Amino acid sequence: MVLVSGKSILQKAKKAGYAVGAFNTNNLETTKAIIAAAVEMGAPIFLQLSSGALKYGGFELAGLALAFARKVPVPVAVHLDHGPSLELARECIGFGFSSVMIDGSALPFSANAKLTKAVAAIAHRKGVSVEAELGQLKGREDEVFSARHTYTDPTAAAKFVRMAGCDSLAVAIGTSHGAYKFKGPSGIDLRRLREIAAAVDVPLVLHGASSVPRQVVAVANKFGAKISNARGVPELQIRKAVRLGVCKVNEDTDLRLAFTAAVRKFLRENPSAYDLREILIPATEAMSEVIVRRINLLGSEGKA
Ligand code: G3H
Ligand code: 13P
Ligand code: ZN
Repeated sequence: MVLVSGKSILQKAKKAGYAVGAFNTNNLETTKAIIAAAVEMGAPIFLQLSSGALKYGGFELAGLALAFARKVPVPVAVHLDHGPSLELARECIGFGFSSVMIDGSALPFSANAKLTKAVAAIAHRKGVSVEAELGQLKGREDEVFSARHTYTDPTAAAKFVRMAGCDSLAVAIGTSHGAYKFKGPSGIDLRRLREIAAAVDVPLVLHGASSVPRQVVAVANKFGAKISNARGVPELQIRKAVRLGVCKVNEDTDLRLAFTAAVRKFLRENPSAYDLREILIPATEAMSEVIVRRINLLGSEGKA
């Protein structure tokens, strides 16, 4: 019975100086992997669905997430990731999500603040918390595409939070979504993060935070994948970001990679297998392992 608001999870994390993992789900197996890891670690988590996930799995997939969240003994926020519109945010709030992101990052500053404020007015009446984004990550953010990074400005961030009334803020400090984050050195702008954290009092969120583990990519490639030059955010930098005030860390790509590697390996090693449960169990376990590692890194183990 522990579906809680994102705000309650993040305020505890901010006070105590750890971060909470936010993991994207697109199917039953990923949802099970996320929940199993959170329970094993006694950790609060965000179980999040993008609009793409809702298109793929329907609101039935969200219903599944809510059913798990209500039954497990750890705090879970069921969260809309990169909400593209007020309408979808409203629908998710009505459906029972405990947290929503409204992603107005492609809009001009004041239109973004206005949209966020309108979502916050609907959400807060129901005790649902709101994440907003200022600045843009390079690449695709669900339905929003940006050809380059627009880093978050610390002074603008403080003004934005005051105007928009959001409960947490996603910042652009050099990460991006997917498996190809850096061409040159793998670096995020920690100095900027320190300045944003000093200027803004709501918990900060790091998107595009997958680490793209070399060994997972190697297994996928060994068993037939062609994933070259993949690069993620080094774990040490994530730990530093948490020390500087990031309280929610999003991870999706690492789960997709773990799933892909495990399915490829299992099918190659078991060419006669066709029971889909046999195939998906090792993939589910592989995703859980990634999540357990991430919870350890963020310091949220035992914080349920
Ligand atoms: O923001 C990115 C997440 O990984 C969601 O990705 O839009 O493919 O569901 P998606
Ligand atoms: P990754 O692509 O780095 O896993 O980021 C996921 C994310 O930010 C979801 O919103
Ligand atoms: Zn994201």
